Amino acid sequence: MKQKRSWWILFIVSLGVMIPFMLPYLTLDPARARVAIASKNIQFPLLVTHIIFAFIALVTGFLQFIERIRIQYPKLHRYLGRAYVISVFISGLLALVVVFYVENFTKALAFLALTMVWLVTCWKGYRYAMKGQFKEHRIWMIRSFGITLVAVSARIVVPLLLLSYFLLNGLTIPGGREQMVEEVLNVNIWVGLLLNFIIVEWIILKKVDAVK
Ligand code: HEM
Repeated sequence: MKQKRSWWILFIVSLGVMIPFMLPYLTLDPARARVAIASKNIQFPLLVTHIIFAFIALVTGFLQFIERIRIQYPKLHRYLGRAYVISVFISGLLALVVVFYVENFTKALAFLALTMVWLVTCWKGYRYAMKGQFKEHRIWMIRSFGITLVAVSARIVVPLLLLSYFLLNGLTIPGGREQMVEEVLNVNIWVGLLLNFIIVEWIILKKVDAVK
């Protein structure tokens, strides 16, 4: 029942990637936000609340896949599961509003798609648990958590996207560095979403094959 080391590494990497992004928002100072703040009274407080609950979802999501907790402490697994589902719903519904403040259309659409699949996969996972269909519950929760992890993978792929931008432009940066970074940040959510979708479905197929 020893948890795979790779799971802990992914946990540490995810915290290491997300915490520095979160810190400026936890000061509650809109001037320190990394994204453009058009409304200090609506967008900023909703964004901060989104970030806090998304972080709870990230941590509780990791803990849900720890076999020791799931098997030896089923009550704790249920509490953490509730915390995960509630956090995803609060954070996801707030993201639905925050999306309206995202300036670029490609980026806004990516966040919109991400929010929808985040809410739907989590809802399906929750419903299957309520119905006692635990095999389906597990599959949908793997999907849901794969979507939660898009926040991490979309940030990790940024250096690779910068490199591909440079290579695809024949080793030049035509519009300058600023335009390169802007273009990359407009597509990184799509890339993270596609990447995690492929990885998660591959893991699920392997699991299904293993029980055949
Ligand atoms: C997976 C579903 C998620 C969706 C749909 C989502 C949606 C959003 C949206 C729409 C924004 C505003 C972006 C902008 O104005 O340019 C945002 C920002 C942010 N989100 Fe999420 N988010 C998700 C997951 C997470 C997770 C799991 C975390 C981890 C704690 C997180 C942390 C943040 C942070 C730190 C920002 C500020 C942006 C920055 O400074 O780069 N989000 N999110």
